Amino acid sequence: MKLSVIGCGYLGAVHAAAMASIGHDVVGIDVDERKVDSLARGEAPFFEPGLPEVLAQGIESGRLRFTTDIAEAQGARVHFVGVGTPQQKDGNAADLTFVDAAIDSLLPYIGPGDVVAGKSTVPVGTAARLLERVMPTGATLVWNPEFLREGWAVQDTIDPDRLVVGVPHGGHGSRAADLLREVYQSSIDKGTPFLVTDLATAELVKVSANAFLATKISFINAMAEIAEATGADVTQLATAIGHDARIGRQFLGAGIGFGGGCLPKDIRAFAARAEELGRGESVGFLREVDAINLRRRERAVTLVVEALEGELVGKQVTVLGAAFKPHSDDIRDSPALDIAMRLHDLGADVTVTDPEAIENARRQHPQLDYVDDRDDALRGADAVIIATEWEEYRRDLSPEHASELVSGKRIVDGRNCLDAALWRAAGWTYFGMGRP
Ligand code: UGA
Repeated sequence: MKLSVIGCGYLGAVHAAAMASIGHDVVGIDVDERKVDSLARGEAPFFEPGLPEVLAQGIESGRLRFTTDIAEAQGARVHFVGVGTPQQKDGNAADLTFVDAAIDSLLPYIGPGDVVAGKSTVPVGTAARLLERVMPTGATLVWNPEFLREGWAVQDTIDPDRLVVGVPHGGHGSRAADLLREVYQSSIDKGTPFLVTDLATAELVKVSANAFLATKISFINAMAEIAEATGADVTQLATAIGHDARIGRQFLGAGIGFGGGCLPKDIRAFAARAEELGRGESVGFLREVDAINLRRRERAVTLVVEALEGELVGKQVTVLGAAFKPHSDDIRDSPALDIAMRLHDLGADVTVTDPEAIENARRQHPQLDYVDDRDDALRGADAVIIATEWEEYRRDLSPEHASELVSGKRIVDGRNCLDAALWRAAGWTYFGMGRP
């Protein structure tokens, strides 16, 4: 099927390439010329495992191209809109400027029978509003939220664990659902559940899924705070409660908390939208989820200060990791970089290393020292903090090897990803998050 994808960031670029890989004929459209040039050459403008391969295949097959010219959307039957919805500069709500602009730019090129499929994460009620704008063209609008995880984005798009399509009431809606079913047929054939809902439900499915995940992380981080006051070990607690299938062990990783371009801004936007709806109380707990999350960053800083017996000035602290999570070069709202900056502001000489995210980090926080090589970054450190659990730090770094590099054997395990006993046995002072 002929498809257009408006917005070629993390979501759109992956979606365009993935749709081409399952056989569709796709044009990806973005206003950013540099991004489009890079994608058109088959080069991913950000680090995402597997993306360069599907891009190259798509372009080679002739089924995938990229342009800045929105007029090239004409002729596609489904137009996916995957532009960003960042947090507003002066508030918690989502900034819908890019979504509105994308829809407006598309209007002259769509007509009867076309379907506009929103993928961006938006406040509930947005789709109904946009539908009013799209209807006069004879096209219809559906909402088809995206659940991909960065680092697994290609796989999550080609083989998602569920497909959700919110459609308007009436015949237009059911025809649009059928068209989307056709787009995703290969996935549906493999058993992926395909859920058709109304517009508001589809919008809410997305934000409530992220709110649930954020809540789960903050729940275990709250338990970490209690563990810290009692001498308990939150990692054992997580494993023990995680054996209950109703709870499950995933997303019970206590540590420095969640960051990224989605969970933090999505819970804030959700709370802001609920307030507009007069239902602020219903998700009032999300403010607590946010507060717990931010407290963990402060806690990590306190542990580094403790490790260095209160004196940071003149001390070298090495931060292992800058990305908000491993397998990504995304530093949006990264707990790692937030902690690095706080340590820097307290007077420490902070060295940051990361396998993929240094370039992005340097652009945002030029005042920190960046070192590409892990061992070079560790050399001379008075204290080390693991802030992003890349395999290079969590699996491949032995305490014996690290001992040969650092000046002081003090480590804060911001992701509870190390074997504490192993590091202690090698003479390290080990600090976990919510662990004795
Ligand atoms: C998240 C959701 O997981 C996706 O389903 C969703 O599609 C996406 O947002 C989105 O809205 O686009 P992502 O931002 O890629 O995906 O990252 P996650 O894997 O959810 O991790 C978020 C943060 O939580 C990371 O900083 C991670 O380190 C942290 N985390 C995760 C924990 O602190 N503990 C855990 O147990 C798990």
